[in-house]
Amino acid sequence: MQFEKIVVNPRATEAVRRVEQRANRLLRGVDRALARVALGGRKAPYDDLTYEFLGGPADSMRKKHYDKSLRLLWKAETHAPQLGFQDASAEERQLREMALRAMSDEERGAVTRLSAPEFKRMLDREYTLREKQAVVAVLSAIGHGEAYAWLVSAQLLAEVKSTGARSALTMQVLEEAKHFLVLRELILAFEVEVPRLSAPEYLMLERVIKARGVEKLFGMNVLVEGIALGLFGMMSHLPGLEILRLFHLDESRHTGLPSNYFREFPLGEKAARSRRAQLSRMSMVVPAVLLIPTLEADLAELGIDAADFGGAVIRKITTLAQRNGFTLAAPIETLLGFVDKLLNQYCSYSRPNHKPRAFTQQETTKGVRELAVEGEVFLGKKAFEGAESIAAE
Ligand SMILES: [Fe+2]
Ligand SMILES: [Fe+2]
Repeated sequence: MQFEKIVVNPRATEAVRRVEQRANRLLRGVDRALARVALGGRKAPYDDLTYEFLGGPADSMRKKHYDKSLRLLWKAETHAPQLGFQDASAEERQLREMALRAMSDEERGAVTRLSAPEFKRMLDREYTLREKQAVVAVLSAIGHGEAYAWLVSAQLLAEVKSTGARSALTMQVLEEAKHFLVLRELILAFEVEVPRLSAPEYLMLERVIKARGVEKLFGMNVLVEGIALGLFGMMSHLPGLEILRLFHLDESRHTGLPSNYFREFPLGEKAARSRRAQLSRMSMVVPAVLLIPTLEADLAELGIDAADFGGAVIRKITTLAQRNGFTLAAPIETLLGFVDKLLNQYCSYSRPNHKPRAFTQQETTKGVRELAVEGEVFLGKKAFEGAESIAAE
């Protein structure tokens, strides 16, 4: 490359260099002194000398979350065009058209997406009004949770250490924004009134957003994501809700985030076991248990036993908590036994001829792929032999 050089006065540039060096020493010196006496100092947790955020590169976090999220990035326009998003690139649109052209009429019929009015007609065919209300009641419980997930992940983005963890949280913020926006359009397409947050869910989500520091990772990536994973896994086989499979996959990556983060920056024995932290975690888990009866009537309308669902989700959450090193107020077996007892007591009032059973041993996730994803998240099993691991581990 040939550049046409500009002649500058070397004395002037040397003077600028010296002044800048002094100013730099002064600025950073003052900030270091202020930081030492806890009066402020440098605000950005960034180290421009090593070109990293404080905490270092944490490349493995980047690969497991940022890179993987981009590989698995999905667009609402391609998967649910009836919702009116225009987020696909020209190449993605072109690829889809080419794929459709290469198909037989029958194959094309199977994958052709519905327009907005066709989608609404299909919902009316598949569901009664009461069933539509039930689907919306259950989905909006997650929908409101997605709003909190968006807010909390943005807060965590400012709190985690390292370049890799920030890149991971950045993808989570993007994905939660997409979940909130796409799920809202999907829910509105049912054209029934959208319920507010129930009292226990309001309490749970407010406890999560108010949790301190990485305790938010317990509230959001273990508890709320665990519930979301359970609900998406249970609903994605229903007509018109197939796109929830993609939400399920994203949430599975999010539930893997704390353990990947703590591998780089261990939670520490004290933080994991402190009485105060255990109480804070329980203050988030108890409303989650109270949430189960509030969903019962709507889940029953869809043929789903709320106690089975609740029991299964509580088991999954306690497993995730244990795997991530978040100690709970009692051993898992004791907690699960207690939840089973509570649920059986409740069911003996709410249902005729109830026979006690271990609700926490049930499985309500449907679909082979969803079960495989959860097997990977909760049991550490590789979902598909030879294939790339689909969750975050
Ligand atoms: Fe989400
Ligand atoms: Fe999430």
